[in-house]
Amino acid sequence: MTNFKFIDLFAGIGGFHQAMRSLGGECVFASDIDENAINVYKNNYGIDARHDITKVDAKDIPAHDVLCGGFPCQAFSNAGKKKGFDDVRGTLFFDVKRIIEYHKPKYIFLENVKHLVKHDNGNTWKVIKQNLVDLGYVLTKEEIISSPHEIGVPQNRPRIYIMGVRKDLTDKEYLEIKKPSGDAKTSIYDVLDEKVDEKYNISEYENKILTAWNEFKININKDVYGFPVWVEEFGKDYDYSSFPDWKQEYVKKNRQLYLDNKTFIDSWMKKHDVQDFKLRDKKFEWQAGAEYKTVWDTAIQLRQSGIRCKKTDYFPALVAIVQTPIIGRYRRRLTPREAARLQSFPEDFILDSVDQHAYKQLGNSLNIELIKFYAKQMFNQ
Ligand SMILES: C[S@@+](CC[C@H](N)C(=O)[O-])C[C@H]1O[C@@H](n2cnc3c(N)ncnc32)[C@H](O)[C@@H]1O
Repeated sequence: MTNFKFIDLFAGIGGFHQAMRSLGGECVFASDIDENAINVYKNNYGIDARHDITKVDAKDIPAHDVLCGGFPCQAFSNAGKKKGFDDVRGTLFFDVKRIIEYHKPKYIFLENVKHLVKHDNGNTWKVIKQNLVDLGYVLTKEEIISSPHEIGVPQNRPRIYIMGVRKDLTDKEYLEIKKPSGDAKTSIYDVLDEKVDEKYNISEYENKILTAWNEFKININKDVYGFPVWVEEFGKDYDYSSFPDWKQEYVKKNRQLYLDNKTFIDSWMKKHDVQDFKLRDKKFEWQAGAEYKTVWDTAIQLRQSGIRCKKTDYFPALVAIVQTPIIGRYRRRLTPREAARLQSFPEDFILDSVDQHAYKQLGNSLNIELIKFYAKQMFNQ
C-alpha cells in the first residue's frame, strides 16, 4: 500500500508517524496530552497533536486508511466482565474502539507492553481482542511479541504488536505475520558516538562505587555469583527464617560468600568506605556471564534494587522513568541521540532540548524499524 492516510493516537514523539511516513503514509490527525511531546511533534512534523482523545468526537477526525496507537494499558471494569467482556467504557481503549467503529479504517496497528496479555489475569487482552474481532477485523492467531534486537538494533524491548486488517480486505481467517529470524547479532557500540559532551560522564561518586565493585568482581569471581551480592548481609548472623524462601537463599549465599572471602572483603570494605555507599549501591548483580571480566566491560544500570552489570550485545529497554544505562567502557551514560538510535529515529530528528524530557519521550516511544517490519507484512495480507 502506498499513498495512504493514517492517524497517530497517543502520538508521543511520533514513532508510528516515522514508520508510516516512510512507507508512504500521510498523517491526517495526531493526538497527545503531554506538553513536551506535543512540542517535539510540532517541531518535527508541523502537526499540532494537542487533543485529549477522550474529548474528541470521532466525526471530527479526518477519514484514514490506517489507525495507529500505543495506548496506555488499563484494566477493564468488573461490570464489563460480567456483561461478557464487551464493556471498555472509561478506558482509553474505549476511545480507540469508538474511532474504529466510526471510521472503519482498513488497517489498525496498536502497540503495548508485553505484560498486556497477562494484565488483569488475561482479561484485558481478551476484551481487546474480542472488541477488535467484533468491529470486523482479522487479527493474528498468536500474539506477536517482538523486540528490536531481533532485527539488529541493540535494544531488548519485548512489546506486543497488535495488527488488524478489515475483514473485506483479506480472505484469511488469521493474519500471516512472520517474526524476524531472531539471530541478528547486535552490539551496543553500534549506536555510540566516539565523542560526547562531558555532562554524560558518570559522577565522581558513581566512579567510586563502580571502581570498588570492579575490584570486588576481579577478586571474587566465584562462579560469577548467580545471586545478587548484598553487602548488608556480610558478617551478619540474625535469624532470617521468617523470610520468603528466595530471600533466605540469597541471605545464606551472601553470608557464605563473606565467610569464604573474609580477609579480602574486610579490607575491601575499609578501603572503599563501602558502608557509606547509598543502600541501593550496596547491592550488586552480575548478569554478564563468565566471558566478561570487569565491571568496565559491561553495560551498567544503577537501579533502585542495586547495581546491575549486563552484557554489551544490547541495552535493556529504554523506559520512561529515568534509568539511563551506563557504558562501562566509556564511563558515561547513553546520550539522548544514542537513545534515539535505539528506537531507530533518523539522525535529523529534533529531540527535546531538555535531556530528561528526551529520555522519557524516547522511553515511551517505540522502535520505528520494527513497526515498519510488521506494517509491511500487514499491508500485504
Ligand atoms: C506509550 S506513549 C506512546 C508513545 C508513541 N507511540 C511514540 O512513538 O512516542 C502513550 C502516550 O499517550 C498519551 N496520552 C495519555 N492519555 C491521553 C489522552 N487522553 N489523549 C491523548 N493522548 C494521551 C501520553 O501523553 C503518552 O505520550
